[in-house]
Amino acid sequence: MIDRRDSNWWKQAVFYQVYPRSFKDSNADGIGDLKGIQEKLDYFQELGVDALWISPFFKSPMKDFGYDISDYKDVDPIFGSLEDFQSLLTAAHERGLRIVVDLVVNHSSDEHPWFKAARSSRTDPRHDWYLWKPRTGRRPPNNWISLFEQRSAWYPNEATGEWYLATFTRNQPEFNWRNPELREAIYDATRFWLDLGADGFRMDVATAYFKDAEFRSNPFSFNLVPNLLQHHIYDRNRPEIFGVFKDFRAIADSYGDRMLIGETHGLDPVLAASCHGNNCDGLHMAFNFDFLYRKWSARLFRESAERWYELLPSSAWPNFTLSNHDQPRHYYRYRSGRHADARARVAATMLLCLRGTPFLYYGEEIGMNCEPLPKASLRDPLGVATWPLRIGRDPERTPMQWDDSLNAGFSPASPWLPVNADYRHKNVATQKTDPDSLWNWYADLLRLRKSQPALITGTLTWLDVPPEVMAWKRTERRQSEGKQDLLVYLNFSGKLKTISVPVGTVLQGTRVAAGERINAGERTLGPYEVLVVSQG
Ligand code: NOJ
Ligand code: CA
Repeated sequence: MIDRRDSNWWKQAVFYQVYPRSFKDSNADGIGDLKGIQEKLDYFQELGVDALWISPFFKSPMKDFGYDISDYKDVDPIFGSLEDFQSLLTAAHERGLRIVVDLVVNHSSDEHPWFKAARSSRTDPRHDWYLWKPRTGRRPPNNWISLFEQRSAWYPNEATGEWYLATFTRNQPEFNWRNPELREAIYDATRFWLDLGADGFRMDVATAYFKDAEFRSNPFSFNLVPNLLQHHIYDRNRPEIFGVFKDFRAIADSYGDRMLIGETHGLDPVLAASCHGNNCDGLHMAFNFDFLYRKWSARLFRESAERWYELLPSSAWPNFTLSNHDQPRHYYRYRSGRHADARARVAATMLLCLRGTPFLYYGEEIGMNCEPLPKASLRDPLGVATWPLRIGRDPERTPMQWDDSLNAGFSPASPWLPVNADYRHKNVATQKTDPDSLWNWYADLLRLRKSQPALITGTLTWLDVPPEVMAWKRTERRQSEGKQDLLVYLNFSGKLKTISVPVGTVLQGTRVAAGERINAGERTLGPYEVLVVSQG
Protein backbone atom coordinates (compact mmCIF):
# COMPACT_ATOMS: atom_id res chain seq x y z
CA MET A 1 0.00 0.00 0.00
CA ILE A 2 1.14 3.53 -0.58
CA ASP A 3 1.27 5.97 2.30
CA ARG A 4 -0.93 8.95 1.47
CA ARG A 5 0.69 10.95 4.28
CA ASP A 6 4.11 10.70 2.69
CA SER A 7 4.48 13.94 0.78
CA ASN A 8 8.16 13.33 0.00
CA TRP A 9 7.94 9.87 -1.56
CA TRP A 10 9.17 11.18 -4.92
CA LYS A 11 12.53 12.12 -3.41
CA GLN A 12 13.15 8.50 -2.46
CA ALA A 13 11.55 6.87 -5.48
CA VAL A 14 13.11 5.47 -8.62
CA PHE A 15 10.81 6.19 -11.55
CA TYR A 16 10.34 4.00 -14.60
CA GLN A 17 8.87 5.51 -17.76
CA VAL A 18 6.46 3.30 -19.65
CA TYR A 19 5.69 4.17 -23.25
CA PRO A 20 2.34 2.39 -23.28
CA ARG A 21 2.13 1.58 -26.99
CA SER A 22 5.32 -0.42 -26.70
CA PHE A 23 5.25 -2.09 -23.30
CA LYS A 24 2.84 -5.03 -23.43
CA ASP A 25 -0.12 -5.78 -25.67
CA SER A 26 -2.94 -7.62 -23.84
CA ASN A 27 -5.46 -7.97 -26.68
CA ALA A 28 -3.40 -8.96 -29.69
CA ASP A 29 -3.77 -5.82 -31.78
CA GLY A 30 -0.04 -5.14 -31.91
CA ILE A 31 -0.27 -2.08 -29.63
CA GLY A 32 0.54 -2.03 -25.94
CA ASP A 33 -2.23 -1.08 -23.52
CA LEU A 34 -3.17 -0.48 -19.87
CA LYS A 35 -4.11 -4.11 -19.21
CA GLY A 36 -0.71 -5.06 -20.58
CA ILE A 37 0.95 -2.78 -18.03
CA GLN A 38 -1.17 -4.32 -15.28
CA GLU A 39 -0.09 -7.82 -16.35
CA LYS A 40 3.47 -6.72 -15.70
CA LEU A 41 3.05 -5.28 -12.21
CA ASP A 42 5.12 -8.10 -10.72
CA TYR A 43 7.88 -7.11 -13.08
CA PHE A 44 8.29 -3.62 -11.64
CA GLN A 45 8.59 -5.10 -8.19
CA GLU A 46 11.12 -7.72 -9.26
CA LEU A 47 13.21 -5.01 -10.83
CA GLY A 48 12.75 -2.78 -7.79
CA VAL A 49 11.35 0.51 -9.10
CA ASP A 50 8.92 2.55 -7.03
CA ALA A 51 6.87 4.64 -9.42
CA LEU A 52 5.79 4.65 -13.04
CA TRP A 53 5.41 7.56 -15.38
CA ILE A 54 3.11 6.42 -18.14
CA SER A 55 3.21 8.42 -21.39
CA PRO A 56 -0.25 9.54 -22.65
CA PHE A 57 -3.06 6.98 -22.90
CA PHE A 58 -5.90 9.50 -23.22
CA LYS A 59 -8.36 9.81 -26.06
CA SER A 60 -6.42 10.85 -29.11
CA PRO A 61 -6.38 10.70 -32.91
CA MET A 62 -2.75 9.59 -32.40
CA LYS A 63 -1.21 12.07 -34.80
CA ASP A 64 1.59 12.40 -32.26
CA PHE A 65 0.85 9.05 -30.61
CA GLY A 66 -1.14 10.41 -27.71
CA TYR A 67 0.55 13.78 -27.29
CA ASP A 68 -2.48 15.14 -29.17
CA ILE A 69 -5.42 14.74 -26.79
CA SER A 70 -9.05 15.01 -27.84
CA ASP A 71 -10.61 14.29 -24.42
CA TYR A 72 -8.74 15.09 -21.21
CA LYS A 73 -10.98 12.90 -19.11
CA ASP A 74 -11.05 9.63 -20.99
CA VAL A 75 -8.80 6.78 -22.03
CA ASP A 76 -8.33 6.00 -25.70
CA PRO A 77 -9.95 2.66 -26.67
CA ILE A 78 -6.58 1.59 -28.10
CA PHE A 79 -5.26 1.58 -24.54
CA GLY A 80 -8.44 0.39 -22.79
CA SER A 81 -10.95 2.26 -20.66
CA LEU A 82 -11.16 4.45 -17.58
CA GLU A 83 -12.03 1.30 -15.62
CA ASP A 84 -8.80 -0.27 -16.84
CA PHE A 85 -6.88 2.73 -15.58
CA GLN A 86 -8.66 2.59 -12.25
CA SER A 87 -7.95 -1.10 -11.95
CA LEU A 88 -4.28 -0.61 -12.84
CA LEU A 89 -3.94 2.20 -10.32
CA THR A 90 -5.60 0.24 -7.53
CA ALA A 91 -3.48 -2.84 -8.18
CA ALA A 92 -0.32 -0.72 -8.38
CA HIS A 93 -1.12 1.08 -5.14
CA GLU A 94 -1.76 -2.23 -3.38
CA ARG A 95 1.85 -3.08 -4.19
CA GLY A 96 3.14 0.30 -3.07
CA LEU A 97 3.83 1.38 -6.65
CA ARG A 98 2.87 4.93 -7.58
CA ILE A 99 1.67 6.08 -10.99
CA VAL A 100 2.28 9.48 -12.52
CA VAL A 101 0.42 10.38 -15.71
CA ASP A 102 1.25 12.70 -18.55
CA LEU A 103 -0.38 16.13 -18.64
CA VAL A 104 -0.28 17.48 -22.19
CA VAL A 105 -1.74 20.96 -21.98
CA ASN A 106 0.43 23.21 -24.09
CA HIS A 107 -1.83 22.11 -26.93
CA SER A 108 -4.77 19.81 -27.59
CA SER A 109 -5.62 17.75 -30.61
CA ASP A 110 -7.31 19.62 -33.46
CA GLU A 111 -10.09 17.07 -32.96
CA HIS A 112 -10.77 18.16 -29.40
CA PRO A 113 -14.34 19.56 -29.22
CA TRP A 114 -12.85 22.73 -27.72
CA PHE A 115 -10.81 23.38 -30.85
CA LYS A 116 -13.63 22.37 -33.16
CA ALA A 117 -15.82 24.99 -31.46
CA ALA A 118 -13.02 27.54 -31.30
CA ARG A 119 -12.26 27.35 -35.00
CA SER A 120 -15.92 27.54 -36.05
CA SER A 121 -16.36 31.26 -35.42
CA ARG A 122 -14.60 34.27 -33.91
CA THR A 123 -17.56 34.72 -31.59
CA ASP A 124 -17.60 31.18 -30.23
CA PRO A 125 -17.07 31.25 -26.43
CA ARG A 126 -14.10 28.87 -26.85
CA HIS A 127 -12.45 30.91 -29.61
CA ASP A 128 -10.13 32.69 -27.23
CA TRP A 129 -8.98 29.37 -25.70
CA TYR A 130 -6.50 29.01 -28.58
CA LEU A 131 -4.05 31.39 -30.24
CA TRP A 132 -5.13 33.27 -33.37
CA LYS A 133 -3.88 36.01 -35.66
CA PRO A 134 -5.87 37.64 -38.45
CA ARG A 135 -5.00 36.36 -41.89
CA THR A 136 -4.45 39.33 -44.13
CA GLY A 137 -2.28 37.71 -46.77
CA ARG A 138 -0.18 34.63 -47.37
CA ARG A 139 2.60 35.66 -45.05
CA PRO A 140 2.34 34.15 -41.56
CA PRO A 141 2.29 36.68 -38.68
CA ASN A 142 5.84 35.91 -37.46
CA ASN A 143 8.75 33.51 -37.90
CA TRP A 144 7.75 30.87 -35.31
CA ILE A 145 8.26 27.37 -36.58
CA SER A 146 6.56 24.03 -36.33
CA LEU A 147 9.21 21.61 -35.07
CA PHE A 148 7.68 18.46 -36.45
CA GLU A 149 6.73 19.86 -39.82
CA GLN A 150 9.80 22.03 -40.34
CA ARG A 151 7.82 25.01 -41.59
CA SER A 152 5.89 28.01 -40.26
CA ALA A 153 3.91 27.22 -37.09
CA TRP A 154 0.92 29.20 -38.35
CA TYR A 155 -1.83 27.35 -40.18
CA PRO A 156 -4.81 28.95 -41.93
CA ASN A 157 -8.33 28.52 -40.58
CA GLU A 158 -10.81 29.29 -43.35
CA ALA A 159 -13.94 29.68 -41.19
CA THR A 160 -12.56 32.63 -39.25
CA GLY A 161 -10.05 34.04 -41.73
CA GLU A 162 -7.27 33.59 -39.20
CA TRP A 163 -4.10 31.65 -38.52
CA TYR A 164 -3.86 29.26 -35.59
CA LEU A 165 -0.58 28.37 -33.90
CA ALA A 166 0.87 24.84 -33.71
CA THR A 167 4.58 24.43 -32.96
CA PHE A 168 4.59 20.60 -33.07
CA THR A 169 2.38 19.05 -35.77
CA ARG A 170 -0.44 21.05 -37.39
CA ASN A 171 -2.82 18.76 -35.49
CA GLN A 172 -1.70 20.14 -32.11
CA PRO A 173 -3.16 23.68 -31.86
CA GLU A 174 -1.79 25.63 -28.89
CA PHE A 175 -3.82 26.95 -26.00
CA ASN A 176 -4.13 30.56 -24.96
CA TRP A 177 -3.04 30.30 -21.34
CA ARG A 178 -3.92 33.96 -20.79
CA ASN A 179 -7.59 33.03 -20.94
CA PRO A 180 -8.89 32.33 -17.38
CA GLU A 181 -11.63 29.94 -18.54
CA LEU A 182 -9.13 27.83 -20.42
CA ARG A 183 -6.96 27.70 -17.33
CA GLU A 184 -9.91 26.62 -15.21
CA ALA A 185 -10.83 23.89 -17.72
CA ILE A 186 -7.30 22.50 -17.55
CA TYR A 187 -7.20 22.67 -13.76
CA ASP A 188 -10.49 20.80 -13.76
CA ALA A 189 -8.98 18.02 -15.92
CA THR A 190 -5.99 17.97 -13.59
CA ARG A 191 -8.22 17.42 -10.56
CA PHE A 192 -10.07 14.69 -12.42
CA TRP A 193 -6.96 12.44 -12.49
CA LEU A 194 -5.89 13.41 -8.99
CA ASP A 195 -9.38 12.54 -7.73
CA LEU A 196 -9.05 9.15 -9.39
CA GLY A 197 -5.88 8.69 -7.37
CA ALA A 198 -3.09 9.43 -9.84
CA ASP A 199 0.10 10.28 -7.95
CA GLY A 200 0.99 13.28 -10.03
CA PHE A 201 1.90 14.50 -13.46
CA ARG A 202 4.73 14.71 -15.88
CA MET A 203 3.92 18.01 -17.57
CA ASP A 204 4.58 18.02 -21.29
CA VAL A 205 6.60 21.01 -22.57
CA ALA A 206 5.64 22.84 -19.40
CA THR A 207 7.69 25.93 -20.16
CA ALA A 208 6.00 26.49 -23.52
CA TYR A 209 2.45 27.31 -22.36
CA PHE A 210 2.90 31.07 -22.63
CA LYS A 211 3.99 32.88 -25.78
CA ASP A 212 5.01 36.50 -26.13
CA ALA A 213 1.95 38.72 -25.70
CA GLU A 214 3.03 40.74 -28.77
CA PHE A 215 3.89 37.66 -30.87
CA ARG A 216 7.34 39.00 -31.70
CA SER A 217 9.52 37.01 -34.11
CA ASN A 218 12.36 35.01 -32.58
CA PRO A 219 15.85 36.34 -33.24
CA PHE A 220 18.25 34.45 -35.49
CA SER A 221 20.49 31.81 -33.93
CA PHE A 222 23.37 29.76 -35.33
CA ASN A 223 22.13 26.72 -33.47
CA LEU A 224 20.98 24.41 -36.26
CA VAL A 225 19.19 21.45 -34.68
CA PRO A 226 16.50 21.28 -33.40
CA ASN A 227 15.95 25.01 -33.33
CA LEU A 228 15.97 25.72 -37.04
CA LEU A 229 18.11 28.83 -36.76
CA GLN A 230 16.06 30.50 -34.06
CA HIS A 231 16.60 31.57 -30.54
CA HIS A 232 13.29 30.61 -28.94
CA ILE A 233 12.72 33.53 -26.64
CA TYR A 234 9.24 34.58 -27.75
CA ASP A 235 7.38 31.36 -28.59
CA ARG A 236 8.14 29.67 -25.25
CA ASN A 237 9.90 30.03 -21.91
CA ARG A 238 8.05 33.24 -20.98
CA PRO A 239 8.07 34.46 -17.36
CA GLU A 240 4.26 34.34 -17.05
CA ILE A 241 4.57 30.56 -16.69
CA PHE A 242 5.57 30.84 -13.02
CA GLY A 243 2.13 32.02 -11.94
CA VAL A 244 0.62 28.94 -13.56
CA PHE A 245 3.19 26.65 -11.94
CA LYS A 246 2.13 28.04 -8.58
CA ASP A 247 -1.51 27.30 -9.40
CA PHE A 248 -0.65 23.71 -10.32
CA ARG A 249 1.43 23.36 -7.19
CA ALA A 250 -1.44 24.58 -5.02
CA ILE A 251 -3.75 22.04 -6.66
CA ALA A 252 -1.28 19.19 -6.24
CA ASP A 253 -0.50 20.14 -2.65
CA SER A 254 -4.18 20.26 -1.75
CA TYR A 255 -4.11 16.45 -2.19
CA GLY A 256 -1.17 16.11 0.19
CA ASP A 257 1.14 13.66 -1.56
CA ARG A 258 1.07 14.35 -5.30
CA MET A 259 4.06 15.29 -7.42
CA LEU A 260 4.59 17.47 -10.50
CA ILE A 261 7.58 17.13 -12.77
CA GLY A 262 7.85 19.47 -15.72
CA GLU A 263 9.39 18.82 -19.06
CA THR A 264 11.25 21.96 -19.97
CA HIS A 265 11.58 23.12 -23.48
CA GLY A 266 15.14 24.24 -23.62
CA LEU A 267 18.58 22.71 -23.68
CA ASP A 268 20.07 24.62 -20.76
CA PRO A 269 19.32 23.33 -17.22
CA VAL A 270 19.06 26.96 -16.07
CA LEU A 271 15.51 26.85 -17.35
CA ALA A 272 14.72 23.56 -15.60
CA ALA A 273 16.17 24.88 -12.35
CA SER A 274 13.99 27.98 -12.53
CA CYS A 275 10.78 25.91 -12.68
CA HIS A 276 11.08 25.04 -8.99
CA GLY A 277 10.49 28.66 -8.03
CA ASN A 278 12.86 30.53 -5.75
CA ASN A 279 10.97 29.44 -2.68
CA CYS A 280 10.24 26.02 -4.14
CA ASP A 281 6.65 27.04 -4.67
CA GLY A 282 6.74 26.02 -8.34
CA LEU A 283 6.99 22.47 -9.67
CA HIS A 284 8.30 19.74 -7.36
CA MET A 285 10.82 18.83 -10.01
CA ALA A 286 11.72 19.76 -13.57
CA PHE A 287 13.51 17.33 -15.84
CA ASN A 288 17.19 17.89 -16.19
CA PHE A 289 17.93 16.61 -19.70
CA ASP A 290 21.58 17.59 -19.72
CA PHE A 291 22.82 13.97 -19.55
CA LEU A 292 20.91 13.23 -22.75
CA TYR A 293 23.23 15.54 -24.64
CA ARG A 294 26.54 14.65 -23.01
CA LYS A 295 29.26 12.71 -24.74
CA TRP A 296 30.73 9.69 -22.97
CA SER A 297 33.10 11.45 -20.59
CA ALA A 298 33.60 11.31 -16.84
CA ARG A 299 34.57 14.98 -16.84
CA LEU A 300 31.50 16.11 -18.75
CA PHE A 301 29.10 14.12 -16.61
CA ARG A 302 30.67 15.44 -13.45
CA GLU A 303 30.54 19.02 -14.75
CA SER A 304 26.93 18.52 -15.69
CA ALA A 305 25.88 17.14 -12.30
CA GLU A 306 27.92 19.77 -10.44
CA ARG A 307 26.32 22.56 -12.41
CA TRP A 308 22.83 21.15 -11.85
CA TYR A 309 23.39 21.01 -8.10
CA GLU A 310 24.61 24.60 -8.14
CA LEU A 311 21.75 25.87 -10.26
CA LEU A 312 18.97 24.40 -8.17
CA PRO A 313 17.44 26.57 -5.45
CA SER A 314 18.70 25.38 -2.07
CA SER A 315 15.68 23.32 -1.05
CA ALA A 316 14.95 21.90 -4.50
CA TRP A 317 15.46 18.20 -5.17
CA PRO A 318 17.53 17.09 -8.20
CA ASN A 319 16.66 14.46 -10.79
CA PHE A 320 18.62 12.67 -13.49
CA THR A 321 17.75 10.74 -16.60
CA LEU A 322 19.65 9.20 -19.47
CA SER A 323 16.93 8.14 -21.90
CA ASN A 324 13.33 8.84 -22.84
CA HIS A 325 10.88 8.46 -25.71
CA ASP A 326 12.22 11.52 -27.55
CA GLN A 327 15.94 10.77 -27.73
CA PRO A 328 18.12 7.88 -28.90
CA ARG A 329 18.56 5.39 -26.06
CA HIS A 330 21.76 5.86 -24.06
CA TYR A 331 22.81 2.23 -24.54
CA TYR A 332 22.97 3.07 -28.23
CA ARG A 333 24.44 6.55 -27.79
CA TYR A 334 27.31 5.27 -25.68
CA ARG A 335 27.88 1.87 -27.31
CA SER A 336 31.44 1.26 -28.23
CA GLY A 337 31.99 -2.10 -29.85
CA ARG A 338 32.23 -4.82 -27.26
CA HIS A 339 32.13 -2.31 -24.41
CA ALA A 340 28.47 -1.41 -24.78
CA ASP A 341 27.36 -3.49 -21.78
CA ALA A 342 30.27 -2.36 -19.65
CA ARG A 343 29.44 1.26 -20.37
CA ALA A 344 25.78 0.64 -19.65
CA ARG A 345 26.78 -0.61 -16.16
CA VAL A 346 28.83 2.53 -15.55
CA ALA A 347 25.94 4.71 -16.74
CA ALA A 348 23.37 2.89 -14.60
CA THR A 349 25.54 3.20 -11.50
CA MET A 350 26.00 6.91 -12.12
CA LEU A 351 22.26 7.42 -12.56
CA LEU A 352 21.30 5.42 -9.48
CA CYS A 353 24.02 6.63 -7.11
CA LEU A 354 24.08 10.37 -7.73
CA ARG A 355 22.04 12.58 -5.44
CA GLY A 356 18.60 12.98 -6.99
CA THR A 357 15.60 11.09 -8.25
CA PRO A 358 16.47 8.78 -11.17
CA PHE A 359 14.16 8.26 -14.13
CA LEU A 360 14.64 5.02 -16.06
CA TYR A 361 13.18 4.41 -19.51
CA TYR A 362 11.59 1.05 -20.25
CA GLY A 363 14.07 -1.43 -21.70
CA GLU A 364 17.21 0.34 -20.54
CA GLU A 365 17.54 -2.36 -17.87
CA ILE A 366 18.29 -4.91 -20.61
CA GLY A 367 20.27 -2.51 -22.80
CA MET A 368 17.67 -2.16 -25.50
CA ASN A 369 19.07 -0.90 -28.75
CA CYS A 370 18.01 1.88 -30.99
CA GLU A 371 19.07 1.17 -34.55
CA PRO A 372 17.68 3.38 -37.35
CA LEU A 373 14.54 1.89 -38.88
CA PRO A 374 13.79 1.59 -42.59
CA LYS A 375 11.62 4.35 -44.01
CA ALA A 376 8.63 2.05 -44.42
CA SER A 377 8.56 1.33 -40.66
CA LEU A 378 8.57 4.96 -39.54
CA ARG A 379 5.49 6.18 -37.66
CA ASP A 380 6.69 9.25 -35.79
CA PRO A 381 5.57 12.43 -37.59
CA LEU A 382 8.97 13.98 -36.89
CA GLY A 383 10.75 11.01 -38.46
CA VAL A 384 8.45 10.92 -41.44
CA ALA A 385 8.95 14.66 -42.08
CA THR A 386 12.70 14.73 -41.63
CA TRP A 387 13.87 11.37 -43.04
CA PRO A 388 16.63 10.76 -44.08
CA LEU A 389 18.23 13.85 -42.50
CA ARG A 390 16.95 12.80 -39.11
CA ILE A 391 15.41 9.50 -38.21
CA GLY A 392 12.80 10.62 -35.73
CA ARG A 393 11.90 8.90 -32.47
CA ASP A 394 10.65 5.49 -33.55
CA PRO A 395 13.95 3.68 -32.85
CA GLU A 396 13.67 4.43 -29.11
CA ARG A 397 10.02 3.32 -29.04
CA THR A 398 10.31 -0.26 -30.31
CA PRO A 399 8.46 -3.00 -28.37
CA MET A 400 9.77 -4.17 -25.03
CA GLN A 401 11.78 -7.36 -25.35
CA TRP A 402 10.26 -9.75 -22.82
CA ASP A 403 11.50 -13.13 -24.08
CA ASP A 404 12.70 -14.97 -27.16
CA SER A 405 9.25 -15.98 -28.40
CA LEU A 406 7.38 -14.44 -31.32
CA ASN A 407 7.63 -10.62 -31.30
CA ALA A 408 9.72 -10.81 -28.14
CA GLY A 409 6.63 -11.73 -26.11
CA PHE A 410 5.26 -8.22 -26.61
CA SER A 411 2.27 -9.26 -28.70
CA PRO A 412 1.13 -12.26 -30.72
CA ALA A 413 0.14 -9.83 -33.48
CA SER A 414 2.45 -7.87 -35.72
CA PRO A 415 3.65 -4.95 -33.51
CA TRP A 416 3.06 -1.32 -34.47
CA LEU A 417 6.83 -0.84 -34.69
CA PRO A 418 9.30 -3.62 -35.51
CA VAL A 419 10.91 -5.50 -32.64
CA ASN A 420 14.69 -5.05 -32.47
CA ALA A 421 16.50 -7.83 -34.31
CA ASP A 422 18.58 -8.73 -31.23
CA TYR A 423 15.58 -9.80 -29.10
CA ARG A 424 16.34 -13.53 -29.25
CA HIS A 425 19.35 -13.16 -27.01
CA LYS A 426 18.57 -9.75 -25.50
CA ASN A 427 15.38 -10.02 -23.49
CA VAL A 428 14.13 -9.89 -19.93
CA ALA A 429 13.62 -13.65 -19.49
CA THR A 430 17.14 -14.54 -20.59
CA GLN A 431 18.77 -11.78 -18.57
CA LYS A 432 16.87 -12.54 -15.41
CA THR A 433 18.38 -16.03 -15.28
CA ASP A 434 21.91 -14.76 -15.89
CA PRO A 435 23.45 -13.36 -12.69
CA ASP A 436 25.94 -11.34 -14.73
CA SER A 437 23.36 -9.68 -16.95
CA LEU A 438 22.65 -5.97 -17.20
CA TRP A 439 19.15 -6.66 -15.84
CA ASN A 440 20.63 -8.12 -12.68
CA TRP A 441 23.06 -5.23 -12.43
CA TYR A 442 20.08 -2.84 -12.36
CA ALA A 443 18.12 -5.02 -9.94
CA ASP A 444 21.14 -5.24 -7.60
CA LEU A 445 21.69 -1.48 -7.76
CA LEU A 446 18.03 -0.83 -7.03
CA ARG A 447 18.18 -3.14 -4.02
CA LEU A 448 21.36 -1.44 -2.88
CA ARG A 449 19.71 1.98 -3.08
CA LYS A 450 16.89 0.78 -0.88
CA SER A 451 19.22 -0.67 1.71
CA GLN A 452 21.56 2.33 1.88
CA PRO A 453 19.97 5.59 3.00
CA ALA A 454 23.21 7.37 2.06
CA LEU A 455 22.41 6.73 -1.60
CA ILE A 456 19.10 8.50 -1.30
CA THR A 457 19.39 11.27 1.24
CA GLY A 458 23.15 11.43 1.79
CA THR A 459 25.17 14.49 0.87
CA LEU A 460 27.50 14.24 -2.12
CA THR A 461 31.19 15.15 -2.24
CA TRP A 462 33.27 14.75 -5.37
CA LEU A 463 36.51 12.81 -5.03
CA ASP A 464 39.84 13.65 -6.66
CA VAL A 465 40.55 10.94 -9.18
CA PRO A 466 42.54 10.60 -12.42
CA PRO A 467 41.02 11.78 -15.72
CA GLU A 468 38.32 9.49 -17.15
CA VAL A 469 37.29 8.38 -13.68
CA MET A 470 34.26 9.82 -11.94
CA ALA A 471 34.01 9.30 -8.20
CA TRP A 472 32.06 10.67 -5.30
CA LYS A 473 31.18 10.08 -1.68
CA ARG A 474 27.68 9.97 -0.25
CA THR A 475 27.46 10.67 3.47
CA GLU A 476 24.53 10.05 5.73
CA ARG A 477 24.45 10.98 9.38
CA ARG A 478 21.91 9.20 11.52
CA GLN A 479 21.64 9.61 15.24
CA SER A 480 21.23 5.89 15.86
CA GLU A 481 23.76 4.56 13.35
CA GLY A 482 26.29 7.40 13.31
CA LYS A 483 27.91 8.40 10.05
CA GLN A 484 27.80 6.30 6.93
CA ASP A 485 30.16 7.00 4.02
CA LEU A 486 29.62 5.37 0.71
CA LEU A 487 32.07 5.73 -2.16
CA VAL A 488 31.35 5.29 -5.85
CA TYR A 489 34.17 4.87 -8.40
CA LEU A 490 33.42 4.69 -12.12
CA ASN A 491 36.09 4.12 -14.74
CA PHE A 492 34.73 5.60 -17.95
CA SER A 493 37.70 4.32 -19.96
CA GLY A 494 39.07 1.04 -21.26
CA LYS A 495 42.38 1.77 -19.51
CA LEU A 496 43.71 0.89 -16.08
CA LYS A 497 43.39 3.73 -13.59
CA THR A 498 44.97 4.15 -10.18
CA ILE A 499 42.84 5.49 -7.38
CA SER A 500 43.26 5.62 -3.65
CA VAL A 501 40.58 4.10 -1.49
CA PRO A 502 39.85 3.90 2.23
CA VAL A 503 39.34 0.63 4.05
CA GLY A 504 35.86 -0.67 3.42
CA THR A 505 33.48 -3.31 2.20
CA VAL A 506 32.44 -3.65 -1.42
CA LEU A 507 28.70 -3.22 -1.85
CA GLN A 508 28.59 -3.70 -5.58
CA GLY A 509 31.29 -4.06 -8.20
CA THR A 510 31.95 -5.33 -11.68
CA ARG A 511 35.24 -7.04 -10.76
CA VAL A 512 35.05 -7.44 -7.02
CA ALA A 513 32.16 -9.28 -5.42
CA ALA A 514 29.88 -7.66 -2.88
CA GLY A 515 30.95 -8.36 0.68
CA GLU A 516 34.68 -8.39 -0.06
CA ARG A 517 36.85 -6.25 2.19
CA ILE A 518 39.29 -3.82 0.64
CA ASN A 519 42.35 -2.26 2.25
CA ALA A 520 43.17 1.39 2.40
CA GLY A 521 45.68 2.57 -0.19
CA GLU A 522 46.25 2.64 -3.90
CA ARG A 523 44.17 0.43 -6.07
CA THR A 524 43.86 -0.23 -9.79
CA LEU A 525 40.53 0.15 -11.48
CA GLY A 526 40.16 -2.12 -14.50
CA PRO A 527 38.58 -1.05 -17.81
CA TYR A 528 35.07 0.30 -17.16
CA GLU A 529 35.26 -0.99 -13.63
CA VAL A 530 32.55 0.04 -11.20
CA LEU A 531 33.20 -0.10 -7.49
CA VAL A 532 30.76 0.92 -4.76
CA VAL A 533 32.28 0.75 -1.30
CA SER A 534 30.99 1.28 2.19
CA GLN A 535 33.77 2.95 4.15
CA GLY A 536 34.96 1.57 7.44
C1 NOJ B 1 7.23 16.51 -25.73
C2 NOJ B 1 6.95 15.04 -25.75
O1 NOJ B 1 7.87 14.37 -24.95
C3 NOJ B 1 6.99 14.62 -27.19
O2 NOJ B 1 6.97 13.22 -27.32
C4 NOJ B 1 5.83 15.27 -27.89
O3 NOJ B 1 5.86 14.94 -29.26
C5 NOJ B 1 5.88 16.78 -27.72
N1 NOJ B 1 6.15 17.18 -26.38
C6 NOJ B 1 4.57 17.40 -28.13
O4 NOJ B 1 3.60 17.11 -27.17
CA1 CA C 1 -3.47 -3.78 -27.41
